[in-house]
Amino acid sequence: MVLKRTKARIIGLGSYLPEHVLTNQDLEKMVETSDEWIVSRTGMKERRIADKTEFSSDMGVAAARQAIKNAKIDPNQIDLILVATMTPDYISPSTAAIVQSMLDIQDAAAMDVQAACTGFLYGLSIAKAYIDSGIYRNILLVASEKMSSFIDYSDRNTCVLFGDGAAAAIISDKGAGLAIDNVNLGADGSLAELLFIPGGGTRNPATCASVGEKMHYIKMNGRELFKHAVRRMSQTSITCLEQAGLTKDDISWLIPHQANERIIDVIAKGLELPLEKVFKTMHKYGNTSASSIAIALDELTQQHKIKQKEHLLLVAFGAGLTWGAVLLTQRSR
Ligand SMILES: CC(C)(COP(=O)(O)OP(=O)(O)OC[C@H]1O[C@@H](n2cnc3c(N)ncnc32)[C@H](O)[C@@H]1OP(=O)(O)O)[C@@H](O)C(=O)NCCC(=O)NCCS
Repeated sequence: MVLKRTKARIIGLGSYLPEHVLTNQDLEKMVETSDEWIVSRTGMKERRIADKTEFSSDMGVAAARQAIKNAKIDPNQIDLILVATMTPDYISPSTAAIVQSMLDIQDAAAMDVQAACTGFLYGLSIAKAYIDSGIYRNILLVASEKMSSFIDYSDRNTCVLFGDGAAAAIISDKGAGLAIDNVNLGADGSLAELLFIPGGGTRNPATCASVGEKMHYIKMNGRELFKHAVRRMSQTSITCLEQAGLTKDDISWLIPHQANERIIDVIAKGLELPLEKVFKTMHKYGNTSASSIAIALDELTQQHKIKQKEHLLLVAFGAGLTWGAVLLTQRSR
C-alpha cells in the first residue's frame, strides 16, 4: 500500500506531571508488596499523584498551554478540542468542553475520546482524518488521566501500576513537525471485563451498595492482559509498518504504551529493535493510561533527539480491549 502524503502534523507538544511522587517504598507501607517485586515485574519505581483539588481538566489545560506555546499558534485558531481520557471530570459533559472553557477558546468544537490507554492514538487518527479531509485546520489533542481517583489503594494488583499525568499536541495542516503518516487501530469488546470499572455506569449505577462493594475502582486480570498486550501490540506495529511500505529498520524510535517494562521488551525483541531505540518512562511515571505515550513523545522531543525524516512508531494497548499503532515522520514543512 502506498500512502497518500498527509497534511496532518504535530507542530507543538506539552506535558504536565503532578508534583507529588508516590514511590515503591510508600506503597510497601500501604499494601503487601515490595520494591523488588514491583521493579522486577513492571520496571516501575515511582509515579505521580494529583492533588485532591487537581482534576483531569486542570492537568490537561496545563499541558495544552505548553503545546499551544510551543506550536506558536493563537488559541482562537483551534477548531476542535479532543480529550483522550478514561478518567473524565464528569460522566457528562465531556472534559473537552471544560478544557475549552478553561482555555477560553471561543466556539471550538469539543469532544472526549474514550479508548482507555489507546486514547491518544485514537485521538491522533481522528485529528488526521479531520485535517486530511480539509474539515479542520488546527486541532488540540489532550490526553489527561487522574487514575488515582479510580484506584483502590488496598488492592496490590492495581495500585502499584498506575499514575496521573497529562500531555497535549497541536495538530495542524501545515508547519514543521511530526507528520501523522499512518494509523492502524483495532478493538475486541468481547474481552471488556479483563480491565474495567464496573460501577457508575448504566449497568451498575452509583448506590451505597455499589460504593460499598468497591465497584467504582479499576478491576484487572493482569496475567491475561499481558498475553493480549504482547500479541496485539506486536501485530498492529507490523501492520502499520507494512501499510506504510516500511520495515523495522526504518524506525528510529519506538514509543510504546508504558504499562509494563517486560511487555515492552518482548515487543521490541519481536520487532528486532535494539533497546536504545525504545523510549521508556514507566520507571518515573508508571502507567498513565492515555497520557503515557503522549508524555513520552513530549519528553523525547524536548531532548531534541528526533532528526529530519526520522520515523517514530507509537504503539498502544488498553481496556476495551483496544490497540493501535501510529507512524510519525519528522518533516521540515
Ligand atoms: C499486573 C502484572 C504486573 C502482574 O505481573 P505477573 O508477573 O503477571 O504476576 P501474576 O499476576 O502472575 O501474579 C503473581 C503473584 O504476585 C502477586 N502480586 C500481584 N501484585 C503484587 C504486588 N503488587 N506485590 C506483590 N505481589 C503481587 C499475585 O497475587 C500473584 O500471587 P499468587 O501467585 O499467590 O496468586 C502483569 O501481569 C501485567 O503487567 N499485566 C498487564 C497489565 C496491562 O497491560 N494492563 C493493561 C494495559 S493499560
